[in-house]
Amino acid sequence: MRVIFLGPPGAGKGTQARILRDRFGLEQISTGDILRDNFARGTKLGTQAQTFMKRGQLVPDDLVIEMIEHELERARDGFVMDGFPRTVAQAQALDALLARRRVPLDAAIFFSGDRSALIARLAARWTNPRNGRTYNALTNPPKVAGIDDEDGGELVQREDDRAETVTKRLEVYDRQTRPLVEYYRRAGKLVEVDALASVKAVADRIAAAVGAQHARS
Ligand code: AP5
Repeated sequence: MRVIFLGPPGAGKGTQARILRDRFGLEQISTGDILRDNFARGTKLGTQAQTFMKRGQLVPDDLVIEMIEHELERARDGFVMDGFPRTVAQAQALDALLARRRVPLDAAIFFSGDRSALIARLAARWTNPRNGRTYNALTNPPKVAGIDDEDGGELVQREDDRAETVTKRLEVYDRQTRPLVEYYRRAGKLVEVDALASVKAVADRIAAAVGAQHARS
């Protein structure tokens, strides 16, 4: 099964990617997490990417596409991509990579939701920088503030979740990523989900939709 997630910042893509990964035994390819991990490890890619990420801009296509080519090697049995593609050039590159492997994309899940609710979610998000797991001070707080329930390590707030950077990320989403909704609708792959429903309701809707799309492809 091969699925991509599209949607604005804070829509719940990372949260749902982890659930879908566990439900169907897929590889999770979260480009934001991979880029942040590269920065934490001091790689050249991480340093290059950080210049763009801290301003809320997209990392250049060539860097991200090269990274995805590498990630696809470990995802031969299926994947859920959260955060890629984000531009038409990235979507075309993914089409070409899948065509070369003679495998189809099953579904593009589009998370739609009211902006003010998504901005509020990001202001309350706490992230485990070691594995990308998130909590939310309002809707899903950890048992002890600032500490991950599972590994006991520290939770952090992402630098790009500051209000001014979130505004920039939303502008960038509208200009560069939102056109992909039409791209995947035309390809017959688009499935829209209500990002503001509960985590469980969104997960169930995605599982039912990707199961049906997979049976068709
Ligand atoms: P990335 O890390 O991908 O950020 P994003 O797409 O902006 O998405 P977020 O991680 O902010 O939100 P999310 O939708 O995953 O929501 P989450 O599940 O955490 O990218 C960061 C940067 O990296 C980009 O700006 C860019 O610079 C660069 N980059 C990455 N990919 C790139 C690419 N392909 N090309 C170029 N540059 C790239 O949930 C948010 C909060 O809400 C959490 O607290 C969560 O607990 C809570 N929550 C989730 N679902 C629900 C629900 N249903 N109800 C209530 N609360 C919920």
